[in-house]
Amino acid sequence: MKRVALLISGGGSNMLALVRDMAEEDHPARPVLVLSNDPAAAGLTRAADLGVPTAAVDHRPFGRDRAAFETALLEPLLAAKPDILCLAGFMRILTPGFVTRFEGRMLNIHPSLLPKYPGLHTHQRALDAGDAEAGCSVHEVTADLDAGPILGQARVPVLPGDTAETLAARVLTQEHRLYPAVLRRFATGDRRPVLLP
Ligand code: GRF
Repeated sequence: MKRVALLISGGGSNMLALVRDMAEEDHPARPVLVLSNDPAAAGLTRAADLGVPTAAVDHRPFGRDRAAFETALLEPLLAAKPDILCLAGFMRILTPGFVTRFEGRMLNIHPSLLPKYPGLHTHQRALDAGDAEAGCSVHEVTADLDAGPILGQARVPVLPGDTAETLAARVLTQEHRLYPAVLRRFATGDRRPVLLP
């Protein structure tokens, strides 16, 4: 049974989708910690309501010292002895030192069809480019931002009149399908990409 730590920064809707799926008895993994860089993250309460241990390390007191923040983050994280880390709406960039420590067992969900649109404002960029479709990707986290091996993708149509908000909502629905499907497969050691219909 793989032990999964989930890192969030806000509402944690992706974390909830993963935690709920891991509650199924045939799932090869279970959540052991939900960890946030924001003590006020709504996802912490939602995780606690589902019985998942939580912790928060506020990144703000560390200022620009990313390494010091990550050292503090490692304390509750390593105490949970995770086999897999799932970044789920985690909005801090991690240093190569931290990433290397978990290389090959840290996943992230990104709201674009990578390699298109790494970074922020992905939906507005897709709209500005006149793309006919958009979507989300789950990838292994490597030192290069949003650039690790793709473990899954889901596509949605861009519709006439779409705004970044309406497109984001359509993509988020697919994120909640894709990430659980990828974690189920990844937790068995199978790294073939999941391509949702
Ligand atoms: C989602 O768009 C996700 O792709 C991105 O953060 C947004 C919020 O995620 N990483 P969540 O609701 O906090 O899981």
